[in-house]
Amino acid sequence: MPRLGLGVYKMTNPDEAYNAMSHALEAGYIAIDTAALYDNEEQVGQAVRDSKKKREELFITSKVWNTDQGYDQTLRAFETSLKKLDMDYLDLYLTHWPVPELYVDTYRAIERLYDEKLIRATGVSNHEPHHLEKLLATANVQPMVNQIELHPHLIQQKNRDFAKQHNIAITSWSPLGRGRVLEDEAIMKLGEKYGKSAAQVIIRWHLQHDLIVIPKSVKEVRIQQNADIFDFELTMEDMQAIDGLNRDERYGSHPDTFHLKK
Ligand code: A2P
Repeated sequence: MPRLGLGVYKMTNPDEAYNAMSHALEAGYIAIDTAALYDNEEQVGQAVRDSKKKREELFITSKVWNTDQGYDQTLRAFETSLKKLDMDYLDLYLTHWPVPELYVDTYRAIERLYDEKLIRATGVSNHEPHHLEKLLATANVQPMVNQIELHPHLIQQKNRDFAKQHNIAITSWSPLGRGRVLEDEAIMKLGEKYGKSAAQVIIRWHLQHDLIVIPKSVKEVRIQQNADIFDFELTMEDMQAIDGLNRDERYGSHPDTFHLKK
């Protein structure tokens, strides 16, 4: 799985979404992380086709939304996503949130899609260890990825330890803390030290922690900048200093209470 991808959350303006995706593919990104919720799967498909890149060289992820969960519903939702993307298969398909009572059946449907070779890998998003334990107890194909909110203000040590123990890869969503970690003075200072931007320092921190990272931007220069992170390395001390910025602060919902929100 590519270590860096373009996150396209909240890119609901079709032209903006299409342009961002096209810039990313031009800049050398090979992974795009979308979801039925984002309402831009058609633009992902269009950008991929127009890029003239070979489908098998790209890594496309989507997710089943909460109102479509359950076994049959997930199979149907997947079909809709695939149609919108106009693709034959997805590289990775995830349960977007662990909807109580439904997420186990949702994951069973994802296993079936994998058995039918309609997806190349299975996974989940926003699952806590207690959700994963329940899935692992009955899974024939264990989830390969858990995509969670993760950035220097929310380092998710418990989830990372659990994933490591069970050989599950972690993808960091909102890796820049929805942009808010960019304003952290300690990060800005590190940027000056390395001659890199705050965003590049944070993306490097994710990669050096073996996390998969999907920063979102709609701006061409930033999309390019966010991928220009393979020519420097943070020292162990600087990695630890960034770990120390943790304050368990979420900028998104909590997996155990998201369904209580409107
Ligand atoms: P924009 O889309 O206007 O570029 P996250 O991926 O953590 O959710 O963060 C996304 C936010 O960070 C967006 O508001 C995005 O704004 C901003 N962003 C992404 N890359 C950069 C960058 N290299 N420099 C500054 N801001 C960035």
